Amino acid sequence: METKDDQIIDITKDVKWIGVLDYDIKTFDIVMHTEFGTTYNSYFINADKKAIIEVAKEKFSEVYFSKLRSLTDPADIEYIILDHTEPDHSGTLRLLLDIAPAATVVGSGNAIRYLEDIVNKPFKSLVVKDGDKLYLGNKTLQFISAPNLHWPDSIYTLLIEDNVLFTCDSFGAHFCSPDLFSDFTSEEYAASFKYYFDVILKPYSRFMLKALESIMKVDFDIICPGHGPVHTSNSSIAIELTQKYASEYIQLIGGREKRKVLIAYVSAYGYTKEAAEIISEGILETEGIEVDVTDIENISPEALEEKIITSDGILVGSPTINQNTLLPVYTLFALINPLRDRGKLGGAFGSYGWSGESPRIIIENFRLLKMRLYDETASFKFAPGGSKTEYLRNFGRDFAAKFIENCDQLFSGNRGRIG
Ligand code: FEO
Repeated sequence: METKDDQIIDITKDVKWIGVLDYDIKTFDIVMHTEFGTTYNSYFINADKKAIIEVAKEKFSEVYFSKLRSLTDPADIEYIILDHTEPDHSGTLRLLLDIAPAATVVGSGNAIRYLEDIVNKPFKSLVVKDGDKLYLGNKTLQFISAPNLHWPDSIYTLLIEDNVLFTCDSFGAHFCSPDLFSDFTSEEYAASFKYYFDVILKPYSRFMLKALESIMKVDFDIICPGHGPVHTSNSSIAIELTQKYASEYIQLIGGREKRKVLIAYVSAYGYTKEAAEIISEGILETEGIEVDVTDIENISPEALEEKIITSDGILVGSPTINQNTLLPVYTLFALINPLRDRGKLGGAFGSYGWSGESPRIIIENFRLLKMRLYDETASFKFAPGGSKTEYLRNFGRDFAAKFIENCDQLFSGNRGRIG
């Protein structure tokens, strides 16, 4: 169903959704498929002192300002609260401040710092911390610390009198529908909610669980996220699912019986594949380790990322072709998230004919991606065999010893770099 550009939705009598529907977006943040489009949710609070929570993506400024003007003269807006400043929620602020010059921009310290470099001109600002309140005359905003969801700047904002909690990325979904209230019986919406959590929030599950603890201490009925449907009658479902997904992830990365090494390889003629198997045998001589040996030439990015997430160390095998490693290995680099994978042990090996640069290229990329380094690479000429087989098995044994030592540090909370 298409919608009119002037669509405004009453969330409560004094809270209006004035967001933008984006049916056409194909990928979000370059990395996320947005099969069902998305929305950039912004909310107008019609209090004695008028306020806006979140704004919109800059390319939609015209339609956004038109909605805003239908409710108020922008010059009368006193506060613009940004719970998170990624440009999908802040992009239009630069232009909004031209027509709302009296407004004070409210956010965390990080948020205000980021906005100074997004807006690139002076503006009035107010930094808020956990528990701070902002009085709008007849209504009160309370701010709740919720960092890293999904940038370091994020907070939540509670409109106390209306029992409405604004959460920006948290509890959101890339799901565009003019019927802007969540319905978890819709398979498409439920899948979008899960997919959004997986891509945007899952790496920050520890922060998510802390934020959930914080919001359990305050009263609210409605959750207004920055993307997708608002949770009016389904807030408890959104919270329960989020709790479940975050807890499952924490269990997945930290609760396994055995520590896991991913051996991800590409192999043109089977030589590096054979090496991967020999190295795996060497690793498996150490108890308490499991190994996932995977050919990454044709694996999907989603499947490869799942393997990276669930591994505590990564060995990459690549032959050297034209003095470089290969495209699937660069895809693997792109899927490593230093915030999530920092401190995991990384190593490299591979077959070569005459120059053999690949393993060093891999190690240097691991260094830049803040992994710990197993610096001693295993390069070998052409095919494994003869003394090279024992050399590779020994490489696996030695890697395993360092891997166990690294896991002890990793899971004791020390994620700094060694090696
Ligand atoms: Fe919807 Fe992290 O921005």
